[in-house]
Amino acid sequence: MSAVRIERTGPDSAARMADVHAVCFQRFWSAGEIAAMMQMPTTLGLVARSGDATVGMALYRIAADEAELLTIGVVPERRGQGVGEQILWRGEHEAAARGARRMFLEVSTLNTAAKSLYLGHGYVQIGCRRGYYGDGSDALVLEKTLASDGQGSGSKLITPLSE
Ligand SMILES: CC(C)(COP(=O)(O)OP(=O)(O)OC[C@H]1O[C@@H](n2cnc3c(N)ncnc32)[C@H](O)[C@@H]1OP(=O)(O)O)[C@@H](O)C(=O)NCCC(=O)NCCS
Repeated sequence: MSAVRIERTGPDSAARMADVHAVCFQRFWSAGEIAAMMQMPTTLGLVARSGDATVGMALYRIAADEAELLTIGVVPERRGQGVGEQILWRGEHEAAARGARRMFLEVSTLNTAAKSLYLGHGYVQIGCRRGYYGDGSDALVLEKTLASDGQGSGSKLITPLSE
């Protein structure tokens, strides 16, 4: 199995990102929606590539000293291998390099894998949106303080597999 590379990407990758999104979420985003988001200068797009395959993706919004993880997904056959962790680390690093000092995200209380990923990487709960998701589940609002090197206090120090 090829090593995974995390790469910054642009609107040209929208179709590949949409393919990943579609196998990760019931309410997935179209290539057109993703491309439109990626036209905005505040959007950061990351893909995880293994050989020629796109095995993961994430979109962030970065504005001034705040950043938000809008979405992150890893194809089912490559989960549990550290790909999500690598994408998360790279997004934090890129956001910090652009001046962000805090990262925010929302996660369903029912999403065990994602909650473990975030809570294991220094995110703390700062709020809860009741019945936020279509399935009626609540959204936890999480925040992490980013250090200027992208590693927040309380996070595991991760050496990226590849940049
Ligand atoms: C959430 C998601 C991105 C994680 O990606 P991944 O590549 O499988 O995650 P990793 O292999 O990097 O795992 C990192 C950590 O996440 C946690 N984790 C990942 N999968 C888990 C699972 N099935 N159960 C519990 N914890 C899990 C663990 O803490 C793990 O650390 P560890 O391996 O040291 O125990 C992936 O499961 C996914 O795409 N889910 C569908 C889309 C989604 O829900 N996105 C998040 C929306 S908020």
